[in-house]
Amino acid sequence: MSESVVFKIDGVEVTGEAGQTIMQAADEAGIYIPRLCDVEGLEPQGSCRVCTVKVNGRTAAACTQPIESGAEVENETPEICNWRSSIVRMLFHEGNHICPVCEASGRCELQAMGYRLGIAYPTQYPYLQPVRPVDASHPDILLDTNRCIRCGRCIQASKNIDGKSVFGYVGRGINKRVSVNGKNLAATDAHLDDKAIDLDTCPVGCIIRKRLGYSTPIGQRQFDLNPIGTNIEKPESKQEES
Ligand code: FES
Repeated sequence: MSESVVFKIDGVEVTGEAGQTIMQAADEAGIYIPRLCDVEGLEPQGSCRVCTVKVNGRTAAACTQPIESGAEVENETPEICNWRSSIVRMLFHEGNHICPVCEASGRCELQAMGYRLGIAYPTQYPYLQPVRPVDASHPDILLDTNRCIRCGRCIQASKNIDGKSVFGYVGRGINKRVSVNGKNLAATDAHLDDKAIDLDTCPVGCIIRKRLGYSTPIGQRQFDLNPIGTNIEKPESKQEES
């Protein structure tokens, strides 16, 4: 049996198991820590930093940081919520996230995170408006890297679960984005059954299944019905402060 580890998140006592990450223990305790690159079924990557928390006053990525006995974790303080808002705002400004005409609207984790963090208007950052070619070569799958947020989920899923390595990164710094390992998508062995193409893998509208767009009416889409995080958080977790 694993050793129990007791620590606190925003003053709430949480008991996890040795070896768990802060995010895993928080999820089990019904406390939501916002995230964009982490998703069930894939290894935590620590790349988006939306899950940043403070552990005993020092910043850490909750998806990769192991729990420690007696640690005081800050999750939803105004300071941390501001950091998360800044990261999410920069993602909106860096790519072409035109939600009203995006096929992923309503099931897009970036959009849903924007709503959760109260992002409702542009800020000081310029819109970079990248103009990258859209790969529509595959009969069933479309790739629009203008919407890529570099979460790496498709790359990991293709490599570690599908055993294919359809996707990889190209470019550096602000120009870094996901790309296809090959001439184009049609020249790969990408298939609709791949985990990398699963609707839950790409958090935005970068990898799209053709002929599926706009199939769910507004009001009935994934995050219309259940705003992001509500599948994890239990309201009582905030009230049982010890
Ligand atoms: S969810 Fe932890 S860094 Fe992205």
